[in-house]
Amino acid sequence: MLRRLAEHQPESFAFTAENAAWCEAQIKKYPPGRQQSAVIPILWRGQEQEGWVTKPMIEVVGRMLDMAPVRVLEVATFYTMFNLHPVGKHLVQVCTTTPCWLRGSDEIVETCRRETGIKNWKETSADGLFTMTEVECVGACVNAPILQVDDDYYEDLNAERT
Ligand code: FES
Repeated sequence: MLRRLAEHQPESFAFTAENAAWCEAQIKKYPPGRQQSAVIPILWRGQEQEGWVTKPMIEVVGRMLDMAPVRVLEVATFYTMFNLHPVGKHLVQVCTTTPCWLRGSDEIVETCRRETGIKNWKETSADGLFTMTEVECVGACVNAPILQVDDDYYEDLNAERT
């Protein structure tokens, strides 16, 4: 899956005072010279604040951690947990990797599409409530098929339970 930053970006980004303090506390957890190790939690905090990871956010995080923005971008584009486009109120992530597929993920995808009106991956429903994405294994194959909605997993699904 090709992961690129959204075409339309905001002009700027700044952490709220509370989040900036939280980020500073994370950075202090690492020994001198290893502050870049905080890149994932700090990007995550930025995403929690804005709903998605923006180019200005990547530049701010790069300055905070003394990292070239392209290195922050590499992290943001590698992990599917980072949203590179604006999303709806709830992010619905459907696992379609082999174990989930063998256990019926096609049915889960179809049900989500029918209930939300979403036709394509990464699309947001007309009411702005849901954005639906396809993800690779989320590490819960034992209870496949899996649906992740925001921070919660829903397991052993069928069409009705979905
Ligand atoms: Fe779906 Fe592992 S394949 S959770």
